[in-house]
Amino acid sequence: EKIMAVQVQAAPKAIFMDYENIYIEEENQLATIVINRPKKLNALNRRTIEELHVAFKELDEDAETKVIIITGSGDKAFVAGADISEFADFSVKEGRQLAAAGQRQLFDFVENLSTPVIAAINGFALGGGLELAMACHFRVASSNARMGLPEVSLGVIPGYGGTQRLPQLVGKGRAMEMIMTAGMIDSDKAFGYGLVNHVVSSEELLPFCKKIASRISNNSSVAIKHAIKAVNAGFKYDADGYSVEIDAFGTCFGTDDFKEGTTAFLEKRKADFPGS
Ligand code: COA
Repeated sequence: EKIMAVQVQAAPKAIFMDYENIYIEEENQLATIVINRPKKLNALNRRTIEELHVAFKELDEDAETKVIIITGSGDKAFVAGADISEFADFSVKEGRQLAAAGQRQLFDFVENLSTPVIAAINGFALGGGLELAMACHFRVASSNARMGLPEVSLGVIPGYGGTQRLPQLVGKGRAMEMIMTAGMIDSDKAFGYGLVNHVVSSEELLPFCKKIASRISNNSSVAIKHAIKAVNAGFKYDADGYSVEIDAFGTCFGTDDFKEGTTAFLEKRKADFPGS
């Protein structure tokens, strides 16, 4: 008699929303989010911001994902800003809501994510695009990238955290000049400013980011989560970074990763972190 093969269906890993404007590539504990509206230079419309929120949330909750890279599709733009066509006729109230919702859903959300996020800036990063890159934990740029906050040329100011994060990264005077002139800087200047950590060729951009990601993923994801929290606390007006560091440091002593990390060191072997 014929034995029928029973097909065991694996439980779905996560229920992803149907993305229209982004896609995600996953490999070896690394997820790459690609913003995919190349005809609009990957401008951030409301739907894209919502999709990015869901993607970051799902990936952060997935214990397998140790590092996230975000980049733009095509070789022209990372993100050329918020989608101007969506807010051109907004009222004062709507303008305020746009900034508040965006900051909460995407920019603050990414900055405070437990999983490290690297921005791979592959072209124009303007307005909301540079603000998104600045909300990431650090940035790598391709040599053809150009960065700026052009909002005052449109009669508005950066509203997704740009007036706060740019001075944090490059210093007040440089930030003031960039914001007031609405000009763009190239990758070399951005590197000199400390806005990006590395500049590589377009072809090398993702491989280079993946190399850094793989070094990060060898380390304790729990400890990294606490480190992100402590570093960020120093930039918050209502938190004392030193106290947050003390608490986070202490918390690490109760983790399996700490036991494994210290034991492996004393046994002169490489740590294999359980991630708990
Ligand atoms: N919002 C909405 N659409 C945008 C956009 C944005 N921020 N940036 C680019 N686009 C669209 C353009 O309208 C154009 O659409 P179309 O083909 O339907 O006309 C398409 O993307 C390609 O852009 P285009 O301007 O033709 O490319 P370019 O090579 O001539 O110029 C830039 C590139 C980046 C210099 C130019 O697109 C630009 O200045 N964009 C706006 C940047 C900005 O001010 N961002 C801050 C927003 S707060």
